[in-house]
Amino acid sequence: MIVRRSQGEIDLIRSACQIVAETLARLSELVRPGISTGELDRYAEQWTRESGAEPAFKGYVVGGRVYPATLCVSINEEVVHGMPSPRRVLADGDIVGLDFGVVRKGYYGDGALTVGVGQTSREAHDLIRVTREALDRGIEKLRVGNRIRDVSEAIQTHAEAHGYGVVRDFVGHGIGQRLHEEPQVPNYVSRGQNPRLKEGMVLAIEPMVCAGTYEVEVLEDGWTAVTKDRRLSAHFEHSVAVTANGPEILTSLGTEHP
Ligand code: MF3
Ligand code: CO
Repeated sequence: MIVRRSQGEIDLIRSACQIVAETLARLSELVRPGISTGELDRYAEQWTRESGAEPAFKGYVVGGRVYPATLCVSINEEVVHGMPSPRRVLADGDIVGLDFGVVRKGYYGDGALTVGVGQTSREAHDLIRVTREALDRGIEKLRVGNRIRDVSEAIQTHAEAHGYGVVRDFVGHGIGQRLHEEPQVPNYVSRGQNPRLKEGMVLAIEPMVCAGTYEVEVLEDGWTAVTKDRRLSAHFEHSVAVTANGPEILTSLGTEHP
């Protein structure tokens, strides 16, 4: 069942999403050679709690495993679910994906972005830009009467036009009173369910795009997903409401209504 949210509920989800957006922006400013991913995680948790919310990922269970941190920090060939550590230090030229969710008053927000550390290669820069553009192309399709597959197709078409691979093993999702709700939102055209978009649906759109193959594998730690060819991967995510006036990006900075 895909839940349609009332205006009051969307206001609550937006409040959670604004904490996500502000925290991601502040974390991006801290990203520099020499900072550890564990330090980024400590700030994320501290700022989340100061804002009256709780981390959504910490304690989240996937396949019997409990996620131990507030942030997912995925560097270079890491696609998603990189675990922060005080021993993992960012270096000049890395690209780093920050993925982060909170829950406040029972409603969730989820967002992600990828930034370069210091001076990055042209290859890295282009991958980040195209992944960000693919997210925008997908969000543009979040209109009443369109279908989920319209979103998937827009994302896939843009990424593949640049020769990139679109990850299949992880997908976007509905969001609201749980972090992951129906429907799934693949970033590629897949068979199966293809629901029509309706006013009040709230969806987390999150393309994961790879410089080479879209195939991923999970490391020994049970969490970190990496590209099989160990080439770079980038990830962006917004939580978005489908409204009568088109998509409203809830995790954009400064969209909080009074
Ligand atoms: N950030 C992922 C998503 O956007 C979920 C993280 S899974 C967790 O759907 F276990 F790390 F929480
Ligand atoms: Co998500």
